[in-house]
Amino acid sequence: MAPGPISIIRSTDVVRVVHSPADASLAADRLRPNGPVVMVPTMGALHDGHVSLIQRAHSLGASVVVSIFVNPLQFGDKADLAKYPSDIDRDLAACRDANVDLVWAPSVDHMYPSGFATRVTVSGVSEPYEGRHRPGHFDGVATVVTKLFSVIRPDVAVFGAKDFQQVAVIKRLAIDLGLPVTIDVAPTVRDHDGLALSSRNVRLDPLARTQALAIPRSLRAASSAWQSGVRGRGELEAIVTAELVDLDVDYVAVVDPSTLSERTNDTGSVVVLIAATVGDVRLIDNVVLG
Ligand code: PAF
Repeated sequence: MAPGPISIIRSTDVVRVVHSPADASLAADRLRPNGPVVMVPTMGALHDGHVSLIQRAHSLGASVVVSIFVNPLQFGDKADLAKYPSDIDRDLAACRDANVDLVWAPSVDHMYPSGFATRVTVSGVSEPYEGRHRPGHFDGVATVVTKLFSVIRPDVAVFGAKDFQQVAVIKRLAIDLGLPVTIDVAPTVRDHDGLALSSRNVRLDPLARTQALAIPRSLRAASSAWQSGVRGRGELEAIVTAELVDLDVDYVAVVDPSTLSERTNDTGSVVVLIAATVGDVRLIDNVVLG
């Protein structure tokens, strides 16, 4: 049977953009015969960190699909949603330059049409840290990621390690629902001064940006302490917290990387998780030790 029509709003030499879930699904199906389809879910405001995810996606499969959707469900604070940076033309140019095969940029109505009443909740790993400070955030992430996956049906999806807890939630989601997708995790990309790349960084004024460097500095201090044999949770948390005195810290946690729970003894690797606000910009970062 001949494939049905696809409404493509923009078509340059190398990037195709679709909007509706039906068009996205059909366009992804057309890529499937070429080999594994690798998806990079994003909320746009693409930066070099996203480009590294896209490059990694190219190395993992035959076709790369990028979704661009600022998901209102994952923003409890509507002011935060309103401030989230967005520049679709710039994003499309970045996707074109990175040889993305398909961009799916749905509207809110496409994703959550009138009557939409489903929420996906991952309990346990989503509850502490970001879950406590941003109630409902991970329900929003789990709901949108489930929908993104069910429309595109990617073989692999690539996420950034900076969002450590998000990755843990999405891995749990994929296992629990038996989603036929491999979750791949790409290393955090940092600026020359160590700050983890984030779409939110554009909102840091020069003073806040300088203050924000306390975050990577604190993670380096934790790594050095670890290398010199420090293993205690309290000691590591104190070393990190000491660097963050000028920031409004939500949490500093030294936990088991696979469960995000406190270790019962001082053996095995740990992840140091940080969330702090600088100016009015909330940043997260982490480092795995051991
Ligand atoms: O990490 C993000 O950009 C978002 O949380 C995601 C995974 C695209 C879901 O909206």
